[in-house]
Amino acid sequence: VRLFVCTVAIVISVAGTLGRIAAENTTESVRKELQQSCQPCHSLRLVETQRLSAAAWQKEMDKMIGWGAVVPNKQLLIDYLSQHYGNQLPPPAPILSTPSK
Ligand code: HEC
Repeated sequence: VRLFVCTVAIVISVAGTLGRIAAENTTESVRKELQQSCQPCHSLRLVETQRLSAAAWQKEMDKMIGWGAVVPNKQLLIDYLSQHYGNQLPPPAPILSTPSK
């Protein structure tokens, strides 16, 4: 019984780690896509300071594609943006400028 419990514990912890690695990889690759698709024209700060609904992200994406953005994985980016920069989230911290001397 001890061995069984031990095996189960190992399997669960390995599965958890793999899941986490997979999630990190996905985020990383989506961010890479965002950089490739959006940064030719403007910084990602313009994107990350938005708080939009999924429908609004969809529209935003179509607008950018209309302007020439190359987005091979449109739905993936829309899902990512809605999840991380959705209108359910608090507004981003304001960008403060420091007075120049
Ligand atoms: C072909 C150039 C181009 C590409 C590529 C591009 N954008 Fe834009 N984007 C613009 C321009 C120009 C503006 C500024 C429009 C304005 O001032 O109203 C803008 C503004 C924005 C804004 C601010 C809100 C708005 O509509 O003005 C968001 C959000 C945005 N882009 C998202 C994206 C995302 C996400 C991508 C990548 C998938 C992307 N853009 C790729 C040209 C581009």
